[in-house]
Amino acid sequence: MKELEERILKEGRALNEDVLKVDSFLNHQVDPELMKKIGQEFANYFANRNINKVITIESSGIAPALATAMCLNVPLVICKKQTSKILTDDFFQTEVKSFTKNSSYELTISKKYLSSDDNVLVIDDFLANGEASKGALRVIEMANAKCAGIGIVIEKSFQPGRKLLDELGIDVYSLARVKKLSEGVTEFFN
Ligand code: G4P
Repeated sequence: MKELEERILKEGRALNEDVLKVDSFLNHQVDPELMKKIGQEFANYFANRNINKVITIESSGIAPALATAMCLNVPLVICKKQTSKILTDDFFQTEVKSFTKNSSYELTISKKYLSSDDNVLVIDDFLANGEASKGALRVIEMANAKCAGIGIVIEKSFQPGRKLLDELGIDVYSLARVKKLSEGVTEFFN
């Protein structure tokens, strides 16, 4: 998505070879006009797939996921990050390890909002190691729901997530594919 790439080049900042900061329009301050266009782009790509629900993980996935859900005219369900296991049968839960943040959490979703009737689109802001996406796929599987695909705003293609999801046969649509980062420099594919 050209406009997104231009925005990353203008306002984003590669801190090092691994981390791209985009706080001015995605991760801290959010640009609603850009989110609308992102939502429309995902909705166009994933149109006609009988998606009845969008799923994301709190917190930075929420803005693009809500925009997508609005364009698809379906509900958005936000997976919560709990610090510990919930000891009731009312939730699907799976542990997700974050390499970037060197921490882990229990990805949690109520059984009220995910079931075998659902055909789900997963939306997230970044794809790095793919751990969050794999966690989302695990809860979808626990619910016997279907995953129609994964939409990613910024994919760091040089990290393992993309390859991993391709190997699982998941349709991943990323709006910006970062080939390489180094301090102050961001390079895209194309
Ligand atoms: P993975 O899910 O693909 O395995 O990624 P990883 O665990 O490495 O990333 C963990 C967190 O770091 C995620 O946010 C992810 O969005 C964020 N992240 C990864 N790479 C970058 C990057 O280059 N720039 C920025 N700004 N964020 C990055 P999170 O912990 O789920 O937190 P939240 O921000 O959504 O609340």
